Amino acid sequence: MANDSNRFQAIISHCKEYGFIFPSSEIYDGLQAVYDYGQWGSELKKNIKDYWWDSMTRMHENIVGIDAAIFMHPTTWKASGHVDNFNDPMIDNKDSKKRYRVDHLIEAFSDELRAAGQNDKADAVLADMDALLAKDDFAGLKKLIEENKIKCAVSGTYNWTDIRQFNLMFSTEFGSTVSSEDADNKVYLRPETAQGIFVNFLNVQKSGRMKIPFGIAQIGKAFRNEIVARQFIFRMREFEQMEMQFFIQPGTQKKWYEFWKEERLKWHTSLGIPADKYRFHDHIKLAHYADAACDIEFEFPMGFKELEGIHSRTDFDLRNHQEYSKKKQQYFDNDIDPATGKPYGNYIPYVIETSIGLDRMFLAVISHAYTEEDLSTPEKKDDRVVLKLPPRLAPMKLAILPLVKKDGLPEIARQIMDECKLHFRCFYEEKDTIGKRYRRMDAIGTPFCVTVDHQSKEDNTVTIRHRDSMKQERVPITSVKELVLNAIR
Ligand code: GAP
Repeated sequence: MANDSNRFQAIISHCKEYGFIFPSSEIYDGLQAVYDYGQWGSELKKNIKDYWWDSMTRMHENIVGIDAAIFMHPTTWKASGHVDNFNDPMIDNKDSKKRYRVDHLIEAFSDELRAAGQNDKADAVLADMDALLAKDDFAGLKKLIEENKIKCAVSGTYNWTDIRQFNLMFSTEFGSTVSSEDADNKVYLRPETAQGIFVNFLNVQKSGRMKIPFGIAQIGKAFRNEIVARQFIFRMREFEQMEMQFFIQPGTQKKWYEFWKEERLKWHTSLGIPADKYRFHDHIKLAHYADAACDIEFEFPMGFKELEGIHSRTDFDLRNHQEYSKKKQQYFDNDIDPATGKPYGNYIPYVIETSIGLDRMFLAVISHAYTEEDLSTPEKKDDRVVLKLPPRLAPMKLAILPLVKKDGLPEIARQIMDECKLHFRCFYEEKDTIGKRYRRMDAIGTPFCVTVDHQSKEDNTVTIRHRDSMKQERVPITSVKELVLNAIR
């Protein structure tokens, strides 16, 4: 593979060709930054979701999950600060009329510098940008763009407007169901799932008799009107988040922030992806709700980029919901405070949030798994594309392949299928040569293929082929199910 940009393009094509991801409404030429998951993509995505959900809820006795609605009362977004603060500085090119998010424009420029070997300059430009963004210094940012002669990719000119803020929330009308006292019927498509957790904090705490510290997890769709939506499923307008809010005593946020940083990194590396593919990046410009924040970055084909955010959100959200709803968002803590010898009493909990984009996790997993292998021998040229997915995430766990469509082999294969499909996803195929069938399974990342041949009729054994090593071994039919189950647990 020539370079990372070619590799990224190859991954995108592979996702389409093998039923992982299609552009949305493609017959109408697609919709920018919106994608559909195909037959294998939706399986892989579901397996990532399940792995996150189980590790968060089943493995932590003090974390429960919810599934809140996408639509929320409009005041939610006033209280959360999204109406006033969920903005990104934008700049327009007067010639092409193209609008850019300022940080993306400058980041793209620094990537170009890096590609040209000017790493020091790239670092300096990014450091200047971070400092100016932290001060909301729009004039300074415009100067940075002009001084570095950053041009519009479409018009090729430097003819920029001033920088302005642009709110990223999508809104729609709610019809007659919103009461007539509301000034307008505007409702928003949630830009994060977290607020569905905050507004249900007391419902869950009381009905579940939860004791602090405890967490609420949620997986669901979020929507952002990203201006420069690009890089495939990295930045989408409709995407899914897997978020967890961990409610803690005020003053303990530093300890729990460090705890969740470590815990989340462990989750990532537990999938078998090497630790050097991940790194932490501390935020310099903090979001409007945070007193500390960092990203877990992953080395995507286009370089290290944000995969997950870990945020110490203080009591910002609950306090504001209390103020806007006029309903107390307090917890009564009867644990004894060692400083006073008395119960801690009532307080608004602080929150540590872990927030990962499901689609970004999908991209991380598939781009790490995508492998092109040259299998040529002196006699014959050969190659294959294989997705070396962690077996527990693979869309299909086992392919069952009768060598020929006769002599009773399909019947034996069907018996194996019936035995295994109750436990994990299996694929049955009779068509084409066995070599072609193996390659198709490699391309979707199926970790095991069993072939039923004439010997199977004699001794009740099959060959099992391992995806990554391509090694084959003869095993009793009765051991196939356990062998696969052991690999996907
Ligand atoms: N509740 C906190 C929150 O939403 P964020 O850093 O804005 O924080 C969290 O988003 C995660 O959601 C990101 O780390 C990323 O994985 C994912 N994400 C955010 N915007 C996205 C987009 N436009 N497309 C795909 N994933 C996105």
